[in-house]
Amino acid sequence: MDNFVLHTPTKVLFGEGQIAHLNSVIPKQARVLILYGGGSIKRNGVMDQVQNALKGYTLFEFGGIEPNPTYETLMKAVELVRQEKIDFLLAVGGGSVLDGTKFIAAAALYTQEPWHIIETTGGDITQAIPLGSVLTLPATGSEMNAGGVISRKSTGDKQHFFSPSVIPQFAILDPVTTYTLPQRQIANGVVDAFIHTMEQYLTYPVDAKVQDRFAEGLLLTLIEEGPRALAEPENYAIRANIMWSATMALNGLIGAGVPQDWATHMLGHEITAMHGLDHAQTLAIVLPSVMNAKREQKRAKLLQYAERIWNLREGSEDSRIDAAIAATRHFFEQMGMPTHLSDYGLDGSSIPALIEKLKQHGMTALGEHGDITLQDSQRILEAAR
Ligand code: NZQ
Ligand code: ZN
Repeated sequence: MDNFVLHTPTKVLFGEGQIAHLNSVIPKQARVLILYGGGSIKRNGVMDQVQNALKGYTLFEFGGIEPNPTYETLMKAVELVRQEKIDFLLAVGGGSVLDGTKFIAAAALYTQEPWHIIETTGGDITQAIPLGSVLTLPATGSEMNAGGVISRKSTGDKQHFFSPSVIPQFAILDPVTTYTLPQRQIANGVVDAFIHTMEQYLTYPVDAKVQDRFAEGLLLTLIEEGPRALAEPENYAIRANIMWSATMALNGLIGAGVPQDWATHMLGHEITAMHGLDHAQTLAIVLPSVMNAKREQKRAKLLQYAERIWNLREGSEDSRIDAAIAATRHFFEQMGMPTHLSDYGLDGSSIPALIEKLKQHGMTALGEHGDITLQDSQRILEAAR
């Protein structure tokens, strides 16, 4: 196991009814900006619950943060924050609202032009407005981590940043808020959480038994509960298991002290930026192709994955690996998520342009060994057609 530092200061309030306790985690005198997306929280009663819980607070609202939040929209919120001297940000929504809120939190106090945050992957952030969240879509883990992914419409970029300053102070996780998710978003959440786990698990062994077995527990839970959530949208126990899995998949725990891949995510972000596919859809396309292309480097973990997750113990190593990749693909498809570019109307003609964007973003040595070159990425995308 590698050395690590793990600091996860986010207070988690988990379960039905926890929104009512918002006043225990936001200072009474705060000037609070509630940030949200396209309005699902107004239709499903989550906004009402938030406002009831915050009676007596000085509240402001900023809506319209879109999926794959854009710099253009977020800068309008930065203006509002500065103008109204907001000193607490409350994100109510999915990963996009959360990521957008993190960017706003840092940008509002940033002395340079805020896109610089993205150009430097957040490395120069020294302070941010405190933030917390009420999560309504279990997927990204953003509610308990230091990362955010921001898109810029004018240039077609989608890039991530990190800073300990933007780790949410609290996360309210009420599984009931997820009952109104459309099937496509249920699938997005399950597949994203699954692939977050894979990015930190499917690399090479470092004898990290706790991290491996935690990761395997998350994968098995998502495989078991994902399809059930599609069939029984209002089953609390299923929703609770998915919600906690998604948070645990990317809050630092399973990634501590182990190598990490993230090639699938870096390729996926370019596909979303260029073609507008949902984040998880891009991952479902790319991951099986990465697994196949890197089967030598990932062999030991692929075999462990095949055995412990899919019970594949018979036959040659390569046939077990093939079967594990096929089972993974089948799981995504069972969630209603196609796994080829062509399923989304893409014929592969944009692959050179995608590779050019990867190059622009410095993504020329990806994966846990840094051995995925631009040519390898091209082959991975070609194989995903
Ligand atoms: O905008 P509203 O009206 O709220 O509707 C949203 C949105 O249309 C809807 N939704 C959310 N909760 C709902 C609901 N609809 C009904 N009932 C509810 N309870 O779902 C749609 C998608 O929401 P979005 O926030 O975009 O989805 P998700 O949580 O999957 O976030 C995706 C974004 O997170 C980034 C992705 O790149 C993408 O931009 N990621 C962030 C990460 C991080 N910060 O650590 C890691 C991830 O790998 C990922 O890259
Ligand atoms: Zn993701």
